[in-house]
Amino acid sequence: MSIAIPAEDPRHIPNRAVVDPAAITHNTRAVRSLLEEQTALMAIVKADGYGHGMLAAARAALEGGATWLGAAHPASALALAGAGLDVPIFCWLYEPVTAAEVLPQVIEAGVDVSVGSARMLRLVSEASRAVDRRARVHLKIDSGMGRNGVLPSEVAALGEAVSEDEFVHLVAAWTHLSSADDPADPETDRQVDEFDAACEILGQETGPVPLRHIANSAATISRPDLHRDIVRPGIALYGYPPLPMPDGKRLRPAMSLTSRLALVKDVPAGQRTGYGHSHTAAEPTRLGLVPIGYADGLHRAASGGVDVVVRTRTGDQLARQVGRISMDQIVVDLGPESRAQAGDEVLLFGDPASAVLDEGTAPTADDWARAAGTIPYEVLTSVSARVGRQTAPRGSAS
Ligand SMILES: Cc1ncc(COP(=O)(O)O)c(C=O)c1O
Repeated sequence: MSIAIPAEDPRHIPNRAVVDPAAITHNTRAVRSLLEEQTALMAIVKADGYGHGMLAAARAALEGGATWLGAAHPASALALAGAGLDVPIFCWLYEPVTAAEVLPQVIEAGVDVSVGSARMLRLVSEASRAVDRRARVHLKIDSGMGRNGVLPSEVAALGEAVSEDEFVHLVAAWTHLSSADDPADPETDRQVDEFDAACEILGQETGPVPLRHIANSAATISRPDLHRDIVRPGIALYGYPPLPMPDGKRLRPAMSLTSRLALVKDVPAGQRTGYGHSHTAAEPTRLGLVPIGYADGLHRAASGGVDVVVRTRTGDQLARQVGRISMDQIVVDLGPESRAQAGDEVLLFGDPASAVLDEGTAPTADDWARAAGTIPYEVLTSVSARVGRQTAPRGSAS
C-alpha cells in the first residue's frame, strides 16, 4: 500500500521567494531609456521569468516599456499567448518529438518561432500546414556561439528554402552573443561581422530581412551600435546588470529570498558546526539555525561565504553563514551580543536597499554567485519549487 505524502503547505514553511513586480517595471524602464525610440525591447521571461514567475514578470516588463516577450520553450510561449498580453511572443528551443505536439498550437496562437536548420524549417512548415496558418519565423544564425542556429556557410540554402515555403513568413534574422559581458573581448565584433555578412546573403534569397536582433543585457547596456531593431535583455530586468548601467542608474533586485530563525543558541569557543566540521567557533558566540538549504536552491559550494541579514527586534544585523550548507538547513554566526531570537526573519538575498545596516550591505544573488563560483542567473533560477512564492506588497520597495 502506498502512503500519500501531502504537498508541503507554504503556510507551514517559512521560506519565501518574494518578488517585487515594481522592481521589474523599474528595471525595464531603465533599460528602455538606453534605446532609441524605434528600437523594441523584448523582455526575456524564459525559465519561469528567471525564477520570478513568468506571467508576473511579463506583465511587469510590459508596464515598463517592453513590447515583445521571449521564452525558450514553445510551451512557455503558448502560456504567454494564452494570457492575452497582446504583444508579439517569440520562442526558439524545441526538438522534433515534442514539437510535433506543441508547434501546431504555437503557430495557431500566432507565436513567432525560431528556425535554425532545415529540419526545424520542416517541423515548422508541417505544423503550419496542420493548422492552415503561416508561421512567423526568425532565422537563427550561429555566428560563433556554436549552439543553436545555421552556420553562415549554410544560410543561403536555408534562406532559399524559407523563401520557397509558402507556409512560412520570414520576420527576422537573429543571433546570440557568447562574450558580450566582457567588452574587451573581440569575439563580439567578430560575431557581429559574421552575422551582418550572413544577413546580406540571406537577403539575396529572401528579399530584405524585416527585423534583426542580437543584443542580450550586456550588449544592450554596453553596445548601442548592436541594438538593431529589437534588444533581448533578461537578467538586467531582474535587477542584475552584467555590466554597469552607462547612466549610473541603479537597477533593483526583484527577488528576495527569506526565511526565519528556527533556533538560537549560545555555544562555547571550539564549537564545531555542520557536516565535515568545516567551521569551528574561535570565541564563545551565539548561533542561529535557519531552515533553508540546498534543496531550496542555496548553492552548497557557497558554504561559509555569505553574510545574511537577520531582522531582530532592535534592527537588522549581518550574520555570516558558517559550516556546510545542508539539504534543509544552514547555521549563521550571530555574534555573542546579538539580540536575535527564534522567529526573526532572515534575508538570504535581495535588494540591498531593503536592509538598514550599520556595516556592510545585504547580500544579493551576486554575492551568492561569487561565493559559489557561479552566476546570478543560476542562483535566481535555482530557488526550488518547495519555496513559497509571494508578491511584494505595492510600494514596499525602496
Ligand atoms: C536567446 C537569448 N536571448 C536573450 C537572452 C537574455 O540574456 P541576458 O539574461 O544575459 O540578458 C538569453 C538568455 O540567456 C537567451 O538565451
